[in-house]
Amino acid sequence: MDRLIDDRRTRIIVCCGSGGVGKTTTAAAIGLRAAERGRHVVVLTVDPARRLAQSMGLTSLDNTPRLVEGIGNGNADPSQHGSLHAMMLDMKRTFDEIVEAHADPDRATQILANPFYQSLSSSFAGTQEYMAMEKLGQLRRADEWDLIVVDTPPSRSALDFLDAPQRLARFLDGKLLRLLTAPAKIGGRAYLRVLNAGFGMVTGVLTKILGAQVLRDVQTFVSALDTMFGGFRERADYTYQLLRAPGTAFLVVAAPEPDALREASYFVERLAQERMPLAGLLLNRVQRSPAARLSAAGSQAAAETLTANGAYPLAVAALRRHAERMQQVSAQQRLAEHFTAAHPVVPVAEIPAQAEDVHDLAGLRAIGQAFGA
Ligand SMILES: Nc1ncnc2c1ncn2[C@@H]1O[C@H](COP(=O)(O)OP(=O)(O)O)[C@@H](O)[C@H]1O
Ligand SMILES: [Mg+2]
Repeated sequence: MDRLIDDRRTRIIVCCGSGGVGKTTTAAAIGLRAAERGRHVVVLTVDPARRLAQSMGLTSLDNTPRLVEGIGNGNADPSQHGSLHAMMLDMKRTFDEIVEAHADPDRATQILANPFYQSLSSSFAGTQEYMAMEKLGQLRRADEWDLIVVDTPPSRSALDFLDAPQRLARFLDGKLLRLLTAPAKIGGRAYLRVLNAGFGMVTGVLTKILGAQVLRDVQTFVSALDTMFGGFRERADYTYQLLRAPGTAFLVVAAPEPDALREASYFVERLAQERMPLAGLLLNRVQRSPAARLSAAGSQAAAETLTANGAYPLAVAALRRHAERMQQVSAQQRLAEHFTAAHPVVPVAEIPAQAEDVHDLAGLRAIGQAFGA
C-alpha cells in the first residue's frame, strides 16, 4: 500500500466493493496516510458517517473540497509537506452544476425546475454512481491535487459502480426518450404524419400510465437536454476512459466473509475484462488474537476441565470466547486463501478489525498504519 501511495505516478485511487465493507473508511484512511507522507490529496467521499465527516471538517454539504485540519507532517522540510482536502458528494448539486455549465441561463432554469429532472437528479438508481464519476472527472481536470482518492456509492453490488453510469446514460440517450421527443425533431411532413399516427398511440398509452403532466415534463426535459450537450453517453465514456488511464488504481475492499469475497471475486474478474488497473484487495475487519498460540481446541478443552471442577467462571467465559475467536480467525484465513487460490496475482493487504467504529483522524491513522506497514 505504501508503495502505491508513494508512487507519484498514482493519480487516482478508487475504493470499491459491496455495501458496508469499509469503502468510505479506507478511502479516508488512504487519503490521510498519503497526505501525511507528503502528497497533496483530495478525498471524494460519498456517504461518510456523520462523526467521521465532522472529524474531517465536513460539516456542510457544499460539494467542494475543504482543507482538513490536523494533518501531521513527519518531514522536517516544509516543501515536502503534504495536504489533505476532503469533500462529500452532493449528487443533486453535481447534476445541477452540469446543467448550469452547459445550458444558457433560461434553459437551465427551465430544466432545473422540471419535475422529471428533479426526481431523476435526486433519486434515479444510478445517478449517484454517475455523479461520483462526474465529480471525479471535474477534480481531475481541476488539477489542484496530485492524488485523488475516491470512495464509491453504497450500492448493494460492487458492479453497480461500473454499470450504473452506463445504464443511466443509456436511459437518457435511449430509445424511449427519443421516441417521446421525436415529433419535436422530425422535419419531413409525410414522415411526420406516419410517425404521429404510431406515436399518438404510444403516447396515448403512456399518458394513461404516467399521466399527461409527467409525460410533458419528460418531453420538455429531454428536448432541453438534447440541445444542451453531446449526450450523457459520451460523458460517461469520458470518465470511463479516465478510470482506465495509467495512474488510476482500483482497490477492491472486502470483509473476510463469504458474500463479500464472492462479490470481490466478480469485481476483480470484471475489472480484468474491462482492462481496468487493479492494485489489489483490501481485506478489512480481519479478526486477530493477541493470544494466537492457544488454539481453539486447547482453549475449549481447558474451559471444559475448569467447568467440570466448578471453578473460575470468569476464566471459563474468557476461554470460550477465545475458542470462538480462534475459530473465526481460521475461518477467515480459509476464505482469504480461497480468494488467493482463485486470483494468485492479486496482492492482498489486511486491516485488522478495530475495537470500535472508526470516527476520527486517530482512528483513520491506525487503519493506515495497519495497511501501510
Ligand atoms: N477495520 C475496521 N474496524 C472496525 N470498524 C470498521 C473498520 N472498517 C470500517 N469500520 C466501521 O464499519 C462501518 C462501515 O464502514 P464504511 O466505511 O462506512 O463502509 P462502506 O463505505 O463500505 O459502506 C463504519 O461504522 C466504520 O466505522
Ligand atoms: Mg460508504
